[in-house]
Amino acid sequence: MAEGKGRLVVVSNRVGPLSDEGKAGGLAVGLADALRRRGGVWFGWSGETSDQGTFREARTEEHGHTSLVTIDLTEEDVNGFYLGYANRSLWPLLHYRLDIAEFDRDSDRAYRSVNQRFAARLAPLLREDDVVWVHDYHFFYLGSELRQCGFKGRIGFFLHIPFCPPEMFTALPASHDVVRSMLAYDVVGFQTEADRRNFVAFCVQELGGEEIDGGLVQVSDRRVRVGTFPIGIDADGFAEFAASAEAGEHEDMVRDISHGRHQIVGVDRLDYSKGILERFRGFERLLEDYPENRGNVQFLQVAPLSRSELEAYVDLRADLEKLAGNLNGRFATLDWTPIQIMTRGFTRRALAGIYRAARVCMVTPLRDGMNLVAKEYVAAQDPTDPGVLILSRFAGAAAELRDALIVNPYSADDVARALQRALNMPQAERVQRWQSMRRTVFSLTAEHWCDSFLALLEASGTGSASDFATARI
Ligand code: G6P
Repeated sequence: MAEGKGRLVVVSNRVGPLSDEGKAGGLAVGLADALRRRGGVWFGWSGETSDQGTFREARTEEHGHTSLVTIDLTEEDVNGFYLGYANRSLWPLLHYRLDIAEFDRDSDRAYRSVNQRFAARLAPLLREDDVVWVHDYHFFYLGSELRQCGFKGRIGFFLHIPFCPPEMFTALPASHDVVRSMLAYDVVGFQTEADRRNFVAFCVQELGGEEIDGGLVQVSDRRVRVGTFPIGIDADGFAEFAASAEAGEHEDMVRDISHGRHQIVGVDRLDYSKGILERFRGFERLLEDYPENRGNVQFLQVAPLSRSELEAYVDLRADLEKLAGNLNGRFATLDWTPIQIMTRGFTRRALAGIYRAARVCMVTPLRDGMNLVAKEYVAAQDPTDPGVLILSRFAGAAAELRDALIVNPYSADDVARALQRALNMPQAERVQRWQSMRRTVFSLTAEHWCDSFLALLEASGTGSASDFATARI
């Protein structure tokens, strides 16, 4: 830990793994990188349920100079807080899917209650000079709850997913409570300028606040720094994964099953925000409109299951399998199956190998905070023979990786055209585009993200509890 600074205390719903071997998603990967370097405490949900839930004794694991401290939830908490409010209300809404967002009073109560109990469990572990950094949409109320517990140190918040426009966010019955409580943080960070703008617009239009030069928002007597901090990866670390024996084995395996055909790959949690169905339709359009690709390309979609208790996810899985089945039935020959979908997860080393074997990587979400698969694909490539990244204009990463082939994921024609272009792109152009993206991925890293957020938080003066006078919302 850097001298003279308080400990870094990170709070997120999912914690760990801190080892290299994990199958972690975007948030966990970014934070693990940050904590490995700086040390501190990582506080969150154990992933377990028990009858005592948040009241059960916390578990602590030491990993080098980082302590992982986790507490349980009850089954009722999981249903109301995690599956209910976080993933039936907030997740779809913040990803612009008002059509499938559900709102109900019981899950709203469960969400507030879990935020309050997490704060009550964390507060006694905090030292005065600790810097607390809260992550993601599971814990909008946590900062204001920590203030209620009397913590006077600095607290920052970072949203890993998009923030939708205020016209949409106001559909959330508690939208005012959520945003007001976010003003208890000293710094509120977003992935992109568009997300930041939407949040500020909510403060101005709905709460009568104003934006002040230099990235401040003022609502009543509360002034908060609101910034954009695009998350990155540990690019050197990922490039090392790509050079590992495990990566090599997976690269060879994918090349073997490809039989010299071009390999296209997609890697996403099985989630409707990722646009996997639309991606399959784009691939189907490629086979229809550019028939020379029949028998010559192969599409591997890795889609580890996620939130399978929720109907929207069960339905999506069935739809994907049906679409892939129809497509294979329509185009397959005795020696060629166009599309393969796998719901098992891979280690990050194995993934690095799969990325290296893929001529094209499709990252085509309908809406995504950042998307680190795009950055990992770039970091894993062979400099002399890199593949092509096809990237949705609706992924946060599109603001940075401008030399990807940027597509509208809703348009099968656009996706098919980009695929055709990628499959036929001359090596010199592939190298040129990759070099430009590589510069971005290797300079705007997880370390840079973490340091720039914390520098602003540490410079922001203490988030004095006195100027956050609002009672618990
Ligand atoms: C996204 C979210 C994370 C979440 C992850 C996996 O990356 O931003 O907060 O942890 O998805 O989803 P899960 O529901 O399994 O935690």
